[in-house]
Amino acid sequence: MDIDVQPIEGARFGARIFGVEPSALPDDAAAANLLRRAAIDHHGTLVFEFGRMLEVAELNALTGVFGRNEFAPGLITGYGKGRVDGEEELTVEEQVARLEARGIDPYLLFLGNVDPRTGERVETSEMFFGEWEWHTDMSYIPNPPTFTLLHARHVPERGGDTGFCSQVLAAQSLPAELRRRVEGKRIKHDSTFSSNGALRVGMTEPATPIEAIGTYHPILRRLPGTEREALFLGRRTNGYVEDLPLEESEALLDALWAHATQDDFTYRHAWQPGQVVVWDNRLVMHCRHPVDPSETRFMWRTQTVGEAVVASSS
Ligand SMILES: [Fe+2]
Repeated sequence: MDIDVQPIEGARFGARIFGVEPSALPDDAAAANLLRRAAIDHHGTLVFEFGRMLEVAELNALTGVFGRNEFAPGLITGYGKGRVDGEEELTVEEQVARLEARGIDPYLLFLGNVDPRTGERVETSEMFFGEWEWHTDMSYIPNPPTFTLLHARHVPERGGDTGFCSQVLAAQSLPAELRRRVEGKRIKHDSTFSSNGALRVGMTEPATPIEAIGTYHPILRRLPGTEREALFLGRRTNGYVEDLPLEESEALLDALWAHATQDDFTYRHAWQPGQVVVWDNRLVMHCRHPVDPSETRFMWRTQTVGEAVVASSS
């Protein structure tokens, strides 16, 4: 495979990838290694230019370069949804079997206001069109998914760009005083709300971030086997710095978020149909810009099984 990796013009990180044949990836270890290396070198943001729509098997083959498929959020209890009152208690395996019996792939998420079977526009929640806050995917679970892939099927004329924000650059330029305040500390990553502000199925709003249900992770993390260090903030809503009085936690989080989301660390991706963007949730945060409610936007999404967050020791 003749793969061409080009740094994204005008951005401080990220690369465009040309020449990938997804169906050939499972048998091409050299190509897979090259892509995994590119992801680390380019702060976990790769834009694949296919110039055509992919089949599900092709998206799965590309996903397989970066890891094993993880369940899509919102389908399995504990993965972006709580158990609804009166809902039967089922094992993960039982839930998977029931979804598959209904023809639902528990790993593939359809994201947007288009019916995946007919391709027709469908009505959806107003929240879909608004801004989706900066976040890393599913950081409220103990082993958050490492890579997320989005495949653009329908792209609006205006709006719907995805923002990426390098948390490698944020860590590299972290002021000494802020670094001292966060070293050895952990943040609780809340699972109550999705990134567009919707209450997740089976969740109730906590009185304060201290009561929120989520998982604690180190604020500064390191990629195992590399020197790559990154800030790991999750999402601002209901974030909480472990053991601090709420006011101090809020002040520290405000200072961290102001630093971490500077324009200088961001790349704003305007989509073309057929593209796949792969990002590493360990190295970048992402957000979604608003979409005009008259527009259609439709993506296929997969993600890979994650790992425990490794604290940076320095
Ligand atoms: Fe996301």
